[in-house]
Amino acid sequence: MEESRGRIASGFYKLTAAERLEAVRQLAGLDTEETAVLQESLDFAERTGANWLENQVGAVVLPLAVVPGFTVNGKSYLVPLATEETGIVAACSFAAKAAARYGGFAARMEADLVSGQVIIDQYPHPEEVVRKIESAAFDVMQQVNRKHPHLAAAGGGLREIAARIVKFRDQSKYIAVTITADSRDAMGAALMTTMAEETAEIIGPLLGGQVLLRVITNDMSARVCEARARFDISDIGGLDVCKKIVQAAEYARLDLSRAVTHNKGILNGMSAFALATGNDTRAVEAAAHFFASVSGTYQPLSDWQLTDDRLEGVIWVPGALGSVGGATQASRLNRLSYKILGTADGTTVREICTAVGLAANLGVLRALVTTGIGKSHRNKS
Ligand code: MEV
Repeated sequence: MEESRGRIASGFYKLTAAERLEAVRQLAGLDTEETAVLQESLDFAERTGANWLENQVGAVVLPLAVVPGFTVNGKSYLVPLATEETGIVAACSFAAKAAARYGGFAARMEADLVSGQVIIDQYPHPEEVVRKIESAAFDVMQQVNRKHPHLAAAGGGLREIAARIVKFRDQSKYIAVTITADSRDAMGAALMTTMAEETAEIIGPLLGGQVLLRVITNDMSARVCEARARFDISDIGGLDVCKKIVQAAEYARLDLSRAVTHNKGILNGMSAFALATGNDTRAVEAAAHFFASVSGTYQPLSDWQLTDDRLEGVIWVPGALGSVGGATQASRLNRLSYKILGTADGTTVREICTAVGLAANLGVLRALVTTGIGKSHRNKS
């Protein structure tokens, strides 16, 4: 058995889909019905265009739900969410409905840029290298932008190149070159990696060529979005419940173990939105956790206060997603999500995602300070 597993593993990627399925059937001991389930999921993937993975033998289907009447910046959206976790859609629906009384969520991007890094290995005179890079920056930027005429025509492109020395035990060890671009509707991961490679190719020879890494950075602090909403105390369950929500947010600022769970509740909504729209949920989460710890202490991404007899929530989180590129438009279901949402504008998609994070946070905090969420979690098993 071990021998045949090894034989199949070495040539698995060369097999056709039918041969792969047959190999898995034999090796995993699947019966006819189980094999048929995999086959049907493969057929579904084929029909919907979700069939791009190497070694693919099926497709995992997650529930896709919508939250109607989700108002952001005065416009009402039908928000698609894909998740395995019960309670998230109900939490967002509750918050969307309650927020609508005061006009819904107000969201705005503070900046809408994405970054990449070229890391240069140690040099004897790092200050000189930094100066060289900075004086070449404008020219390098023009050369890179010329390679992306469609992006330039859409108003995007490389905007900044900056270099800094990175020390290890007080010794200059590396030079980090940060490139920052406007990727328009795209999340920008592929673009930034390409631009980092292009930048490295141009600056490498200027420096003598010791480039270590060239890739996007998931530090998306140049793409932070703020979303706010006000709620009537009576819609949330009364003053006592609202005071507890404020306390829960305060507690999250005091205890790392709680802060990370508070943020997970926000990401429940954001990742469900990212998944429905074909975005990279790991990027959304990495950027959020990075931003939560940027002050040096991991902090909650949202805050709740009682002001003028209203409950007010605010969130600041990077919108590490887009509406073109990556897998956003790869499958028919993901493309449908944009049609349901009614927009494929990258900035708007990022703003909606941020508002969804705040909504998920409120819905779950309200449940936690009242009945708890154990019941909905238990329902899953
Ligand atoms: C569970 O997926 C998310 C929560 O733990 C979030 C929170 O505690 O705020 C309920």
